[in-house]
Amino acid sequence: MRRTLVKHALDSVTAQDSILVEGWVRTRRDSKAFSFLEINDGTSLASIQVIADAGIPGYENIGKMTTGASVSVQGKLVESPGKQKWEIQATAIELVGTSPESYPLQKKGHSPEFLRTIAHLRPRTNLFGAVFRTRSRIAAAVHKFFLDRDFVWVHTPIITASDCEGAGEMFHVTTLDPLAENKSYEKDFFGKAASLTVSGQLEGETFACALSNIYTFGPTFRAENSNTSRHAAEFWMIEPEIAFCDIYGDMDVAESFIKHIANTMLADESGDFDFFCRFVDKGLKARLEEVSQKPFVRCSYTEAIDIMLASGEKFEYPPYWGMDLQSEHERFLTERHFKCPVIVYNYPKEIKPFYMRLNEDGKTVTAMDVLVPGIGEIIGGSQREERLDVLEGNIERLGMDAEAYYWYNDLRRYGTVPHAGFGVGFERLIMFVTGVQNIRDVLPYPRTPRNCEF
Ligand code: 4AD
Ligand code: MG
Repeated sequence: MRRTLVKHALDSVTAQDSILVEGWVRTRRDSKAFSFLEINDGTSLASIQVIADAGIPGYENIGKMTTGASVSVQGKLVESPGKQKWEIQATAIELVGTSPESYPLQKKGHSPEFLRTIAHLRPRTNLFGAVFRTRSRIAAAVHKFFLDRDFVWVHTPIITASDCEGAGEMFHVTTLDPLAENKSYEKDFFGKAASLTVSGQLEGETFACALSNIYTFGPTFRAENSNTSRHAAEFWMIEPEIAFCDIYGDMDVAESFIKHIANTMLADESGDFDFFCRFVDKGLKARLEEVSQKPFVRCSYTEAIDIMLASGEKFEYPPYWGMDLQSEHERFLTERHFKCPVIVYNYPKEIKPFYMRLNEDGKTVTAMDVLVPGIGEIIGGSQREERLDVLEGNIERLGMDAEAYYWYNDLRRYGTVPHAGFGVGFERLIMFVTGVQNIRDVLPYPRTPRNCEF
């Protein structure tokens, strides 16, 4: 007999004479003549109630069907007098795997901190089931957004020899023993220094300058030693790149993208979104509705500094023109000043990477960051420097190895075009649509400084 997923059993339009469901026991209550079991198979938040009469085949093992045990239930899908429409009147029940008392998820209401220590079991809780089903759905929505607009998904390499952001926060990839003497890159696997990618942008640009609209979507790695609730050493990034596009076109795509994701979440009928609104963040729905409806504010970096200077607000890092915006500044702008998403653009060139296009003022580059309430920076992007001489000047000014970037410069040598793109932190996007506060709780197995468990 074919297994029916609990989610489909609960969505059934008719009663069924014969059904098979399988899953894990959440709770069990016994009375003299029968037992009630709540069975969850992770296909949705909801569990299905099973009534097992004493004496049906398999009932002799009922005592072992404890919380966390796996079971297989055959029976009839019948109307339920309880709060759910359907329940199962079992005709046979089989113990598949026992779960002794050491099972750590005995009681409801564990803290996220505790659950991180059992990351291999936490997907069985309501919160983490909802988070990871949502992560999967939002990933599909990301692909839909770009594929519907004729963007090609390009799989840029995970191992690379270039440091896109120029921040030197790379994880080296080597087959040499770090403790051995006489190491040299010559002897290493690639015959040169290699790292895990911090961004697929540079490789992505080469494809945009051939296929017009592309995006990447994959893991990226940063050895940033910042132990915050919004940074991970391994995270996923979505990086669209658009040919024949300037910074304003770039902002338009970024804004439509965030709105599309907010709308996808608002349309969620699985129960997961309602769960986040009720138990994780009471302001979530209103926030997403605003993001979906209101146009994003666009504000230059210089204006943003002026706004903060005039605000009378006490910042830990007092604002001045030329500084990199800190998280407290970003959150002030989006949460307290504008109270909506803000796109800050035209940043001082000194604080931005080599590839951003220099503005006519000679002082700022066409960087743009999208800041959203509750998160701060969710997107970072720019129009790229398409002028070969200016780009080569940047590479020299920053003391980069010019030869290593010959292929990137070639895009400007042969048929250069204005082009622009951005990077979305996928985990920050998931935090944004779920209200979950810590990046460690939206990654299946978070990697952060001094933490690489599982
Ligand atoms: O602003 P970033 O560094 O931009 C880039 O990497 C560009 N190459 C993107 C591009 O133009 N194609 O990173 C982009 C986004 C950030 O806005 C943030 O959401 C996320 O990636 N991000 C991180 N997310 C989690 N943990 C980290 N350590 C992150 N670093 C960046
Ligand atoms: Mg950034």
